[in-house]
Amino acid sequence: MRSTWALAAAEPDRTARAFYANLFRIDASTKPLFVGDMELQGRKLTHTLGFIVDHLDDPQALLPAAVDLAQRHVGYGVTAAQYASVGAALIETFQQLLGPEFSAADETAWRQIYQGLSDAMVKAAYAA
Ligand code: HEM
Repeated sequence: MRSTWALAAAEPDRTARAFYANLFRIDASTKPLFVGDMELQGRKLTHTLGFIVDHLDDPQALLPAAVDLAQRHVGYGVTAAQYASVGAALIETFQQLLGPEFSAADETAWRQIYQGLSDAMVKAAYAA
């Protein structure tokens, strides 16, 4: 997963452009949430992926951080349903940019970590 991220991070603008194009196509409701310019949006993507990769070895630290992060996302206007859209856009972006270098094992690993994290965030922020 770190090598996937290293490849994507080497081209942050291209990665960001592809990611947001995928996200807005998959889920147009996410578009109004991103009010900044491309550079800001790119930084947001880097944050998101960096956050995940930085905490891979440390799931204990990840969960409390995820609760705070999830609560901030409610303030950004993010809905629970949009988490799946972001996950799908992320995988599609890696497939487009990395081609065969994004292996089936990479895909499984990213899906698992994203699912675990987004489940924890959705539960923390939207549980009745
Ligand atoms: C596992 C899932 C996610 C992670 C790890 C994540 C991570 C982050 C981080 C680190 C920030 C920087 C600001 C902060 O720390 O509060 C941020 C901001 C933001 N995120 Fe997320 N995010 C996730 C899911 C989502 C989803 C599903 C959406 C909905 C489309 C979203 C939309 C935003 C928006 C609108 C901002 C505000 C900043 C900006 O406009 O650039 N995020 N996210």
